[in-house]
Amino acid sequence: MGKKLRSHDWFLRSGKMGFMYRTWLRNQGIPDHEFDGRPVIGICNTWSELTPCNAHFREFAEYIKRGVYEAGGFPLEFPIMSMGEPLMKPTAMLFRNLASMDAEETIRANPLDGIVIIGGCDKTTPSALMGAASVDLPTIVVSGGAMLNGKFRGKDIGSGTDIWKFSEEVRAGRMSEDDFREAEGCMSRSCGHCMTMGTASSMAILVEALGMSLSGNAAIPAPDSRRKVLCHESGIRIVEMVKEDQKISDIITKESMINAIVVNAAVGGSTNIILHLLAIAGRVGIDLKLDDFDKYGSHIPLLVNMMPSGKFLMEEFYYAGGLPVVLNELKDHINLDLITATGKTHRENISGAECYNQEVIAPMDNPLINNAGIVVLKGNLAENGAVIKPSAVIDQRLLQHTGPAVVFENIEDLHNRIDDLDLEIDENSIIVLKNVGPKGFPGMPEVGNTPLPKKLLEKGITDMIRISDGRMSGTAYGSVILHVSPEAAVGGTFGIVKEGDMIEVDVKNRKLELLVSEEELKERKANWKLKEKVYTRGYVSIYQEHVNQAHLGADFDKLVGNSGKEVSRDGF
Ligand code: FES
Ligand code: MG
Repeated sequence: MGKKLRSHDWFLRSGKMGFMYRTWLRNQGIPDHEFDGRPVIGICNTWSELTPCNAHFREFAEYIKRGVYEAGGFPLEFPIMSMGEPLMKPTAMLFRNLASMDAEETIRANPLDGIVIIGGCDKTTPSALMGAASVDLPTIVVSGGAMLNGKFRGKDIGSGTDIWKFSEEVRAGRMSEDDFREAEGCMSRSCGHCMTMGTASSMAILVEALGMSLSGNAAIPAPDSRRKVLCHESGIRIVEMVKEDQKISDIITKESMINAIVVNAAVGGSTNIILHLLAIAGRVGIDLKLDDFDKYGSHIPLLVNMMPSGKFLMEEFYYAGGLPVVLNELKDHINLDLITATGKTHRENISGAECYNQEVIAPMDNPLINNAGIVVLKGNLAENGAVIKPSAVIDQRLLQHTGPAVVFENIEDLHNRIDDLDLEIDENSIIVLKNVGPKGFPGMPEVGNTPLPKKLLEKGITDMIRISDGRMSGTAYGSVILHVSPEAAVGGTFGIVKEGDMIEVDVKNRKLELLVSEEELKERKANWKLKEKVYTRGYVSIYQEHVNQAHLGADFDKLVGNSGKEVSRDGF
């Protein structure tokens, strides 16, 4: 090929430098002709046994390599930091930005012309994509696929969602500890990520909606051989993308972001998507705002009947036709003429999409819920915004509600007192959980869907308003208001809410107000002091110092933007 590629600055060099750049790679048995200037494809693998959802990725990389070789490319697989949602303490989100730095610097520093990202578990896809976007090479995403449906005593059970349900059943005395334990092995019974519409499924859908993957990528179950075919085909396609110089910034635009917001609403996607999309947009240089989620998504109907908003799981979503069907249904609300990683438009990609089960993917004229997308609430309690996912609300009465605050200063305070029989709380109270935001915790854990007090569970209460500056798992549900910005730990109004203060939640009018006089608020703010820990060394201190607020995507201030792909200096 005639075109100059960045890898040529390594492998087509003569003299000492060329020798240096090639010789050590040859120790892997790489023949001379691989260094003839063909596209070098980095396979950015988030494989790790500590990330159970991604533990099958080594095999996928081999299928991607087959495709790369077939198309005349030279593949080199590399690992980046992988974050396993279930194991990492205190929360995988604390490390998303760190992994994005790993991806960015590894890609830029090495002789790579194109990138295949293999991502699965919640933070692994956005972190790699954020990093890659800050270099902006031709890039394609291969998702790891969801696990097969959980099966427990003749019933389908969903990752996460049924853990929340079962644990409330145990606390209410309706399920035994033994049955609870047995359900563990029944929930996670194949390779793959959470098979509910949690953050991993939402992210897989989102990369397809953005146009960053081959069509059909989101829904194929992890163990289905058709996902290996998708790996192979993605390997072929990335070599072509390098030849066409089709970069991330050619695919991810404001318009494709709007498509993703609309799609996330229609599938009942995770609230975590807000943080990841905002962060990715920041890396690409797109002016995406928190308000855009409400503007473009809140009026979109729910079409996909999947837990936690509905009842099915990813397997059924795939068998019903997957995302192409949803894109087709949304044709009047999204731009199908945008270019995708296939080299074709969405419209071309989805021609012939057919729904095989309208119970799983409802048509636009008969949706499950009319207005399903994320709503952004604002008011003196959240000047920069807070979010709620109306499709996950159980008790619709709570969408318009004024009640007294029951305040927990941090997550430990909540755990210590939530089941206290003397706690003054009833179903009209509003649970306020402070200091679980990006800086305060630090890392913004998924604790916003707090447990309900045991005494109210026993009364049969299934939902209450909970407000926090934290996140909730995409598999969770309830009247949960999240991502309050400014968070408590930076001295916002949220930090000075007191027990018994009245709070007004008005989802229809987008309001979140603390009904306390201006004067009183001023006085409280003057006396406010941060009580949470400030870290002084290591990554966590860097995180606490540089993390942006939730309404900006919780990226680091210094990571927003793009440093490009050029590295002009050699180190020898
Ligand atoms: Fe990995 Fe849910 S725990 S995707
Ligand atoms: Mg999750």
